Amino acid sequence: MRFLLLLTFLFFNVALIADEPSEKQAVSLERPPESLKQWYKPTNKRNVWHHNMFKLRREMQAVNEYMHEKDQPHTEKWAAELVTHYKKIIDMVPEWQDELELEWADKLQTAASKGDFKTLKKAMKKLKSSCKGCHSDYRSQVAAIYRAPDFSKIHVTLNKEKTTYLDFMKILMRDINRIKIATADNNLAKAKTSLKAVRAGINTLRSSCDNCHKTNDAKNYYLGDKTSKLLNKLEIAIEKGKSGRILGEFAVQACAHCHGSHRIVYDLKREIE
Ligand code: HEC
Ligand code: HEC
Ligand code: HEC
Repeated sequence: MRFLLLLTFLFFNVALIADEPSEKQAVSLERPPESLKQWYKPTNKRNVWHHNMFKLRREMQAVNEYMHEKDQPHTEKWAAELVTHYKKIIDMVPEWQDELELEWADKLQTAASKGDFKTLKKAMKKLKSSCKGCHSDYRSQVAAIYRAPDFSKIHVTLNKEKTTYLDFMKILMRDINRIKIATADNNLAKAKTSLKAVRAGINTLRSSCDNCHKTNDAKNYYLGDKTSKLLNKLEIAIEKGKSGRILGEFAVQACAHCHGSHRIVYDLKREIE
């Protein structure tokens, strides 16, 4: 009896442990300093911070290549540029001073002018590790906050009413699913009206791209010829009473591609802002 009790006790304990929700693993991202904002659109005319990064990458490459060729004059020229743009980081975001290897930046410049390639190599390594350090701490969230598309203020007009992007999305989804349901239930008339609604929805969707894209290239990529052709094929498939495969292809072309490039980053942006 005692043994049985012990067993029961053990069993319940094990069950309890197993039932306990597995410990949640939190993901934490550090918020970048406010001072960064002024170096990005719309506060700034250009994404100055991002452009300074392109310069750093190019200058690191130039110094590395000339250093290997032991071409002192060019090494010195590019090292000076590199150090200037590296130090620009503190002018732009003083809070990030600790992320930098400032002493090594000075050593780098001196070594380059003296042609001391051994010290230069070491200094390049130090700088490179500071690039990596800051990137792993901040790069993804900065890109999401300052460069991801922001749909919070995007609206479309449906039946003369201002509709949020999210509500518009729900309507698109509803109409597409209606096609699927109606064809499954052999309701040809309903499938056809729903297709008409989807066609109208795609036109509205196309016009929504103009809020951010200045040319037609972007919308033609997801919502151009390929999408029109799939809609025509879908019409034929519906007549035959089977919409399945074409409807799927259409949803990938007209919906999923854009979700992959816009919705995922927008969701992330909202999470961390
Ligand atoms: C103090 C922080 C910090 C330091 C130091 C730093 N970076 Fe960056 N870097 C960033 C942030 C933040 C981003 C993301 C910017 C964005 O996506 O708009 C970035 C992005 C980049 C990018 C990506 C550009 C792209 O393809 O979108 C490159 C290249 C880059 N940095 C190069 C460098 C190099 C080279 C160094 C070192 C010499 C360096 N960075 C040092 C913060 C830093
Ligand atoms: C809220 C602003 C916004 C809206 C609305 C928007 N986009 Fe974009 N889109 C962006 C941003 C930002 C990028 C990234 C471009 C970059 O960083 O250069 C992008 C990139 C793209 C790209 C990648 C190639 C390129 O041209 O840069 C495609 C394709 C695209 N969008 C299609 C669309 C389509 C289709 C629509 C409408 C259904 C749309 N976008 C609506 C902001 C937006
Ligand atoms: C700009 C490119 C773009 C295109 C093209 C696009 N969507 Fe979206 N979709 C978004 C964005 C951005 C969101 C997030 C909106 C939000 O959360 O405010 C979204 C969200 C959604 C949602 C989520 C609604 C919810 O309840 O959370 C659905 C469903 C959806 N879209 C369906 C569609 C369908 C169906 C199509 C194709 C006919 C489509 N979308 C085409 C950008 C796009």
